[in-house]
Amino acid sequence: MSKGIDNVLEIQEKYIEKLRDTVKRQSEEKGRPMTACVVTFGCQMNERDSEKLKGILKAAGYELTESEKADVVLYNTCTVRENADTRVFGRLGYLSTLKKKNEDMIIGLCGCMGQEPHIVEKLKKSYKFVDLIFGTFNVYKLAELLYAHITSGDSIIDVWEESEEFVELLPTERKYGFKSGVNIMYGCDNFCTYCIVPYVRGREKSRPVKDIVEEIEGLTDNGVVEVCLLGQNVNSYGKGLDGNVTFASLLREIEKIEGLKRIRFMTPHPKDLSDEVIDVMSKSEKICRHIHLPAQSGSSNILRKMNRNYTREDYLLLVEKIKKAMPDIAITTDLIVGFPGETEEDFEDTLSLVKEVGYSSAFTFQYSKRTGTPAATFDEQVPEDVIAERFNRLLDTVKESSGCNDNLTGRTMDVLVEGTNDKLEGYLSGRLSNNMLVHFKGDKDLIGKITDVHIDESKGFYYFGTIV
Ligand code: SAH
Ligand code: SF4
Ligand code: F3S
Repeated sequence: MSKGIDNVLEIQEKYIEKLRDTVKRQSEEKGRPMTACVVTFGCQMNERDSEKLKGILKAAGYELTESEKADVVLYNTCTVRENADTRVFGRLGYLSTLKKKNEDMIIGLCGCMGQEPHIVEKLKKSYKFVDLIFGTFNVYKLAELLYAHITSGDSIIDVWEESEEFVELLPTERKYGFKSGVNIMYGCDNFCTYCIVPYVRGREKSRPVKDIVEEIEGLTDNGVVEVCLLGQNVNSYGKGLDGNVTFASLLREIEKIEGLKRIRFMTPHPKDLSDEVIDVMSKSEKICRHIHLPAQSGSSNILRKMNRNYTREDYLLLVEKIKKAMPDIAITTDLIVGFPGETEEDFEDTLSLVKEVGYSSAFTFQYSKRTGTPAATFDEQVPEDVIAERFNRLLDTVKESSGCNDNLTGRTMDVLVEGTNDKLEGYLSGRLSNNMLVHFKGDKDLIGKITDVHIDESKGFYYFGTIV
């Protein structure tokens, strides 16, 4: 760890202490605990950042709550599609009504929307009740920003364009005790023409292997049995690090960690998923039999315009290779409908791709124009009604050709028990290695444990089973 980071950590720890004194005083004045709520929008990167935000708030003495009727409410936002922004603006309106009842309430917006200048302008102009605005690069500074707002009464806006350092060692409040996301890299250099992520998350940076392994060892010491390695393109892990470090070599190192039972990762990019990674996966006892392989489109013409750097044929060859190496693997994907210039024929190529691959599930999105991305300026934007009509057809095709394709009925498989089933009294729910859900009767004590379950029945997108 560099001296610089030591220093950054020390400064932030001091701010957490100062904030803790302030929160204690406020709590004594009010005669009740001070509360804080973090609402997360978007992907697993944001989920992980929210754990860090919550860790800092808890260390500063706030009682964490799920309710937005709290003393501090932070929205950790996503801007990947326009409806993500719209949802946040709508909910900010609701927060302003809560603030009228609790004048001391502090409202903050951070995450990917915070990185966008036009959004910050809009907030400054029309959402003046937002007290804190920061982005994706300085999440670790929450205590300092909050303290600055409380002591000055000013709105604080602190948005950075980039960050050189990974600040990982501050307090963190993990969502589950038994599984955890672990950042292996930040940012994205791919610049798919529709996507805002490279602009709001910056350039790719990999964390050193040693830091990742130490973090996971710490997690397993505390009862974590499954990790999900997080990055926007995990295949390019290692770029910029000393030595010949690759994603495959990282997987091999993580595999050695005792106590760790399952390894997942998100997201590999189809353009550069190496044979070595497929080989490591197929020989591994711990890497799960699931791969999320976003295709985005089944048309080579559209894939080229998207700057995805693979063709339909390349993608199908890759799928074939993966299935050959691991016949029991479940493949999931992301698909976009209505990218500029998408013809009926291009769209039908996407439908046929879905049928040909046989995904276990697919996330489907209507193309959303993002200001600042190349595709936003492309001619031939597809009309909204055409996008909506194609989207429904895609949903139907996904429904028909996806799900429990590999019928596992009759087999006994290990399941990580994740919680009680909300709808079925006495039932637990857990995930198979291939990420499919299984519901079965069992005792709550099993939550967080890996247990053998006989698969009794397939229900299309999930299974029923019996503990053996
Ligand atoms: N890094 C990951 C994806 C991150 S964003 C990858 O490359 O696979 C998650 C998904 O959101 C993308 O896979 C894509 O399907 C969707 N998405 C991104 N930008 C979009 C846009 N402008 N309109 C619609 N969907 C979009
Ligand atoms: Fe976006 Fe493409 Fe990067 Fe994924 S790989 S985050 S879709 S630019
Ligand atoms: Fe959204 Fe940011 Fe993730 S834009 S998808 S939360 S990286």
